[in-house]
Amino acid sequence: MNGEVIIIGGGPGGYVCAIRCAQLGLKTMLVEKAALGGVCLNWGCIPTKALYAATKLLRKAESADAMGISFGEAQIDLPRLAAWKDGVVTELTTGIAALLEKAGVEVISARGRLAGEGRVELSSGEAITAPRIVLATGSRPIEIPGFSFDQEPVWSSDDALALREIPERLLVIGGGVIGLELATIYRRLGSAVTVVELLPEILSVIDLDRRTISALKRSLRAQGIEVLTNTAAESWQEAPGGVDVQLANGSALESDKILLAVGRRPNSDDLGLDTAGVEIDRRGLVRIGNGLETTASGVFAIGDLVPGPMLAHKASAEGVALAERFAGGSPELDVNLIPQAIFTDPEVASVGLSETRAKQEGASIVVGRFPYAALGKALGMREPDGFFQIVARGTDHRILGAQIVGAEASDLISEAALAVRRGLTLEALAETVHAHPTLPEGLKEAADNALGRAIHIVNR
Ligand code: NAI
Repeated sequence: MNGEVIIIGGGPGGYVCAIRCAQLGLKTMLVEKAALGGVCLNWGCIPTKALYAATKLLRKAESADAMGISFGEAQIDLPRLAAWKDGVVTELTTGIAALLEKAGVEVISARGRLAGEGRVELSSGEAITAPRIVLATGSRPIEIPGFSFDQEPVWSSDDALALREIPERLLVIGGGVIGLELATIYRRLGSAVTVVELLPEILSVIDLDRRTISALKRSLRAQGIEVLTNTAAESWQEAPGGVDVQLANGSALESDKILLAVGRRPNSDDLGLDTAGVEIDRRGLVRIGNGLETTASGVFAIGDLVPGPMLAHKASAEGVALAERFAGGSPELDVNLIPQAIFTDPEVASVGLSETRAKQEGASIVVGRFPYAALGKALGMREPDGFFQIVARGTDHRILGAQIVGAEASDLISEAALAVRRGLTLEALAETVHAHPTLPEGLKEAADNALGRAIHIVNR
């Protein structure tokens, strides 16, 4: 079989690239060995967010008492909760299969491997050919010495999302995005959760200001999630009624389950890269040049396989950009302007430069902030924790970055992403009338505050 584009991997990078290629008239084949939608839809973003939303009801129900509404004790039917989450996943993956079919993409259920110029060998024994091949095989969680996902008490994020049980005690190794999101969900479900993080700070791989991290840490503590930084987990052993986890500082922590969330590695092995001349770096990331082309001509790579944040929307954006280039376009994509959303309590979201990074880069900046506690909508929702922050260039007020920590931050960051991407100024944001009473007013007032003219706080 031959075509114009072969894509290996049907996650948010690959399937989006495939649909856009087909829309642009290219004869496209998508090779996927497991489920369409990849980690994000099946075992990542979507099931996590379904559980995040469901378990948020528990938190809301508890706090409703202060509003004069009380419920009885919550009953959690774990199999039904799991079935509901799985239903959301199935609805989306079925939808993607239909979209691919309607777009005219040939979906091939098989494992694919590069096998010479323009050629991909399938696990079925057949071979397919095309002048352009896109690698979009994503990433998988890493293990550390002493901890293996094959050991029963050691959970990967997949095990945590399977919702087989609610452990009384859960020890999370890794204070990154996955560790903190799952810590939030299991704490809401009733587990006693401790997070151990090797580095001096949680979320250190993301460009967040100290004040943003501090606000999150305060809230994690208030929820009863214990966070131990500068703490490395070394090994574990069975103990009466659970496990003992030994730490590098000589102490030990007791738990029932251990969730290992210490990062992910690209799935760049077993793709036949050397035979094709595709180079990888020591972390297994595929080397790419401008235009996402690898060191082998005609072979491209996107998503978690290549440098940059391991985010579904980054993979999709690269997939679309690549398809446009194949069709003769020259789209711009700046991975530094890709927003990040973290589903903790409260949510944390950011885009562009932090205040710290902007200062390190020597920019003269102005910063505006606005607290949730000064927003009528937030108070009415009983969500007073958190703040909005905008960083702009001092000279012309061009917005360089924003961080939001608070309710619905993941939704609210998009307005800031547009402002940063399009080079809007503080004035442009501040002079746009925002509906009242809404949470986005907080972003507008942060812009006003940077200009010394916020109405609902004292400007400093
Ligand atoms: P991560 O790189 O974000 O965090 C892993 C953490 O584990 C680091 O802070 C690291 O210092 C720590 N660590 C490493 N070894 C350790 C040890 N022995 N003991 C204690 N701590 C140790 O990786 P994570 O959370 O696994 O996520 C993987 C990727 O998936 C990230 O790039 C993340 O951005 C992405 N992701 C994004 C989501 C979102 O945007 N909402 C959701 C889920 C994943």
